[in-house]
Amino acid sequence: MHHFFYKEDDLYCEDLSVAYLAEQIGTPFYLYSYATIKRHFQVFNNAFKGLDHLTCFSLKSNSNLAILRVLSLEGAGADIVSGGELFRALKAGITSDKIVYSGVGKTPKDMELALKSDILMFNVESDQELHTLNGIAKDIGRKASIAVRVSPDVEPKTHPYIVTGSSESKFGVQITNSLNTYAVAKRLKNIDVKGISCHIGSQLTEIDPFVEALRKVKELLGELKKIGLDIKFLNFGGGLGITYNDENPPHPLEYARALRETIGENKFTLILEPGRVIIGNAGILVTRVLYTKSTANKRFIIVDAGMNDLIRPTLYNSFHAVQPVTMTHSKMLTATLAGPICETGDFLAKDRKMPPFKPGDLVAIMSAGAYGFSMASNYNSRPRPAEVMVKGKLFSLIRARETYDDLISGEMIPKFLE
Ligand code: LLP
Repeated sequence: MHHFFYKEDDLYCEDLSVAYLAEQIGTPFYLYSYATIKRHFQVFNNAFKGLDHLTCFSLKSNSNLAILRVLSLEGAGADIVSGGELFRALKAGITSDKIVYSGVGKTPKDMELALKSDILMFNVESDQELHTLNGIAKDIGRKASIAVRVSPDVEPKTHPYIVTGSSESKFGVQITNSLNTYAVAKRLKNIDVKGISCHIGSQLTEIDPFVEALRKVKELLGELKKIGLDIKFLNFGGGLGITYNDENPPHPLEYARALRETIGENKFTLILEPGRVIIGNAGILVTRVLYTKSTANKRFIIVDAGMNDLIRPTLYNSFHAVQPVTMTHSKMLTATLAGPICETGDFLAKDRKMPPFKPGDLVAIMSAGAYGFSMASNYNSRPRPAEVMVKGKLFSLIRARETYDDLISGEMIPKFLE
């Protein structure tokens, strides 16, 4: 069941037409389907039924409070990478015993906040971080539960910017050196070693790299037992890909089956950190055509959303399908859908076949729920767009469009310039 679909010629999100919503909200805006978010979470989470597990939604993919609330009500935990994400997760009602904290650059201040909030675990990414965490835990009289994030050096076959588990990447501790890190951790008085964590990359569309990584992690688990470390949690990160265009990623059931088979008989809690697979196809970006123009060999459609609203096409050359909000059945034309930003790289779709959009037409940029709003900026002093959630016939603004006052909030002109 798809919750973004055409009823005759009109694009709908659940029971509401996107054109109607655009009239109410103005453009550009992100639009999320409640039913899709809930279904995606349930399908993913249920795929691991019978296995002791915890699904921690990766906040970096989308950290809107309303979206987190939907997931929290479904029983999700949170994968966070900053104090800000911790703040959001707690505000949305995700309990601290379901929060795991990754990231190569955790600040002492954020560590202290997380310790005081009693989060489930830190995924520690270096020996230095381990010492810092131990020191802070000691100062405030606590013990920090940790997993060491290991980098298993497998090729995830995805965009180089989102590869994280190779020996070229800054993430984690190389699995081959990780026994040393564990030995250090074991000696530190305010560190409680609880797990292994591993995330090899994002938007993976094949199962093999996952299996290869998990095998290596399992081997390490055996080694750790030998040195007397009883690992209670295996965090396997996120990374399961979605269909943007013609990719054919494994279904969560297939993914879960492969993990189960590789894990075999083992007594630990499996933690998963999915982001994109939950929220990517649960959201779209709705924009309106401002102008059309042509050069000698290119046709441009200029819309009111730009790279500040959705940076993925610019940053990774990623593909997002472009669909009309109202179908016209006219012949498709090759065009570039560009934004208003003063950068040549400001495009949402490049040299693509698309309907012959005219000024005033509404355009839907599909699969924009993950790493869309969460990577949006104010570049060119553009207020960030509104976010809306639809649930059946209901809709609600879940983030107001920013105002010009929001743009300058916190800025000040110093006395010496008055
Ligand atoms: N866990 C860790 C430790 C991660 O680093 C990430 C993503 C996730 C979980 C969630 O991965 P997912 O399930 O969403 O693939 N901005 C890029 C993606 C960057 C992903 C960074 N880490 C994009 O727009 O494609």
